[in-house]
Amino acid sequence: MSRLRLFAAVQPGFEKVLEQELWQLGINQKVEVQAGGVAFDGMLKHLYRANLWSRVASRILVRAEPFFANTFSELVKRASQVPWEEYLILNTPVDIRVTCRKSRLYHSDAVAQRIATAIGERMGFPPLVVSGESKGPVQPQQIIVRLVRDKCQISIDSSGTHLHKRGYRQRTGKAPLRETLAAGLLMEMGYDGSQAFVDPLCGSGTFPIEAALIAENRAPGRQRTYQFMHWPTFDLTEWQAQLDKADAGVKPATVNISGFDRDKGTIETATANANEAGVTVTFSQASLSAVLVRNSTGILLSNLPYGKRIGGNSPRDLRDLYATFGYALETEFAGWQYGFLAGSHDLANATRQTLKRRTVENGGIKTIFCTKK
Ligand SMILES: C[S@@+](CC[C@H](N)C(=O)[O-])C[C@H]1O[C@@H](n2cnc3c(N)ncnc32)[C@H](O)[C@@H]1O
Repeated sequence: MSRLRLFAAVQPGFEKVLEQELWQLGINQKVEVQAGGVAFDGMLKHLYRANLWSRVASRILVRAEPFFANTFSELVKRASQVPWEEYLILNTPVDIRVTCRKSRLYHSDAVAQRIATAIGERMGFPPLVVSGESKGPVQPQQIIVRLVRDKCQISIDSSGTHLHKRGYRQRTGKAPLRETLAAGLLMEMGYDGSQAFVDPLCGSGTFPIEAALIAENRAPGRQRTYQFMHWPTFDLTEWQAQLDKADAGVKPATVNISGFDRDKGTIETATANANEAGVTVTFSQASLSAVLVRNSTGILLSNLPYGKRIGGNSPRDLRDLYATFGYALETEFAGWQYGFLAGSHDLANATRQTLKRRTVENGGIKTIFCTKK
């Protein structure tokens, strides 16, 4: 396989963090920040590296050469020039996702059908077209087609299951954060594994586990499999070399990484998840007002209840909780750098801190990401 045009997709708002991460991974050819991700050039080894090591990307796509098509025959002709044989074998089902905007070809089902025709023409047999994830052992190859103003961009997904599914979270708490969002916020705060870390309301432990993965230099995707492993071009020797290198680079953290929650079952879940991830995190059951830490500095990051997904908190209870959190920031965590996700500006105000704020979406809910001003 020759040089590829690749695209790492990311939650909007984290494109710059992703760009910086890719540079640190040695991905530096034709890097271009775009809405919702970062485009770059690379070989298969870069594709593997981005999948294995990106903490913040949601998936990595291979982009075919874009082309113009305003008739179905042009679409089939151009789409059959994509080297499908590099991604598909005889029995790979394909899941073709199409969006059309401001284009002559506007009927997405008809476009999907013609893409299947083009694959059939190129491969010599018609592909099995499916929709959504399969329950069987072979996941469909997702193909993403975007037609905007008659310009067609075909992308081939290399990740399979989205990258936030690292494989360590067997159980979740009441309102878990996506691992990629947790890592993105950690990176935005400059967490590099050399600082102590605490989440005083840690739930299933996503923030401390992601912090520990950074501090122990563990590849976030080490435990999972990827769609590219099913490609005829899969280079097992290169992949194994990357895994061996990742394993050899793991080191113990030199700082305390801890999580607290008042709920006993939640702490058990967080501990099980950390064990599954292979990281060392100290989890303790404690209510926020009783949390004590050993370090006088470090990074605190927390996802406070919003009063939307988890029931049981009256608005007044929630405001009290945010006020207690604000008090903890001024006392136990006085020397710490901090950030937290709040359910609303009102709740953030209840901490009585001077805050820098930006909106961050978490699982479809608009939250306010607050840091010290
Ligand atoms: C939004 S969840 C955190 C989710 C977490 N970031 C995750 O990924 O699973 C908030 C957590 O705060 C805990 N909590 C609520 N009030 C608390 C208090 N006063 N003291 C300690 N923990 C509290 C809840 O038990 C819950 O697990």
